[in-house]
Amino acid sequence: MKKNRIQYSIGVIALIILSGCANKKQAALSLKDAFVDKYYIGTALNESQILGKDTVAIRVVKEQFNAIVAENCMKSESIQPVEGEFDFSLADQFVEFGEQNNMFITGHTLIWHSQAPVWLFVDKEGNDVSRDILIERMKSHISTVVGRYKGRIKGWDVVNEAILDDGSWRKSKFYEIIGEDFVKLAFEFAHEADPEAELYYNDYSMAHPGKRMGVVNMVKKLQEQGVSIDGIGMQGHCTMDFPSVEEFENSLVAFSNLGVNVMITELDITVLPSPRKEVGADISASFEYKKELNPYAEQLPDSVKIALNKRHMEFWGLFNKYQDKISRVTLWGVNDSQSWRNGWPVPGRTDYPLLFDREFNAKPVVSEIIEKYSAKK
Ligand code: GLA
Repeated sequence: MKKNRIQYSIGVIALIILSGCANKKQAALSLKDAFVDKYYIGTALNESQILGKDTVAIRVVKEQFNAIVAENCMKSESIQPVEGEFDFSLADQFVEFGEQNNMFITGHTLIWHSQAPVWLFVDKEGNDVSRDILIERMKSHISTVVGRYKGRIKGWDVVNEAILDDGSWRKSKFYEIIGEDFVKLAFEFAHEADPEAELYYNDYSMAHPGKRMGVVNMVKKLQEQGVSIDGIGMQGHCTMDFPSVEEFENSLVAFSNLGVNVMITELDITVLPSPRKEVGADISASFEYKKELNPYAEQLPDSVKIALNKRHMEFWGLFNKYQDKISRVTLWGVNDSQSWRNGWPVPGRTDYPLLFDREFNAKPVVSEIIEKYSAKK
């Protein structure tokens, strides 16, 4: 009897030690290895990372991520600042970095009303160009940029943010001058330039029922017209109370039902108060700095850390539920100090939106995500 009890106790102790080891082993896994059977885990790279100056960030990127997107250097104002004069210096290094490290490379973004050069829409007198000229300029931009990286960049955010939260068309210069066909044309030009590349539509606040409906209608129409569209990017710039996980799920399902891949393309979660409701990720929004809008300048209180952790876990739980529909989850930046959230929509704040802290340490939520959601289904 006593012997049995001793054997039992030894067994229990061994199990505890073994499961402890297994947990440690799991926790030590990187995000990219943990999710290798499910989806790519991506991050956006800034200039100093692309130039290799930010060596600590680069170490984290190589360890943790297997997909990259350029935060800014491939936007049209950077890549074609003057008509016909392309600047590929950073973009080339970005693509080389991805290739050297065997990463899935996304090109971001071809047609977007924002961060576009002024010349694109106007003639020498400053008047809007004609429809034909804007189409020609779009074509030349897309063919040159996509053509340069043919076979190397595997997926393109072809059009960014064409639909408003209520589902109507954004009245951008592309829309005003060309009409809604600008989206179709952009996808056609991109497909012509690299028929093998995956082509995506990307937008923020996709959980809004209106935007969901607008995007679904637009994509359906593109598909009916025979346009090749492979994926929809849900940017995933979240706050602590928007979007609701349920509405995000409704959009994820609606997009996936169109027969395209869904990607979470620009994930970050701000804990900071919003100066106004509903600013989504419209980067033209800007508000004056006020101390009360920057409540965690020194550090994040434990209660907020816990709430943020929970919010991350809810979203990763959702991604896990739809792992068959999602092809990539990309964070919009590497560590908290590098996030655009610190400067938008109020400059000079201290935010905590990403998975790595200001010292590049993985936040506790990283091992929680890995432990809870990385196992094969
Ligand atoms: C949008 C764009 C991104 C980036 C963010 C803010 O989401 O798609 O390229 O500019 O805004 O940084």
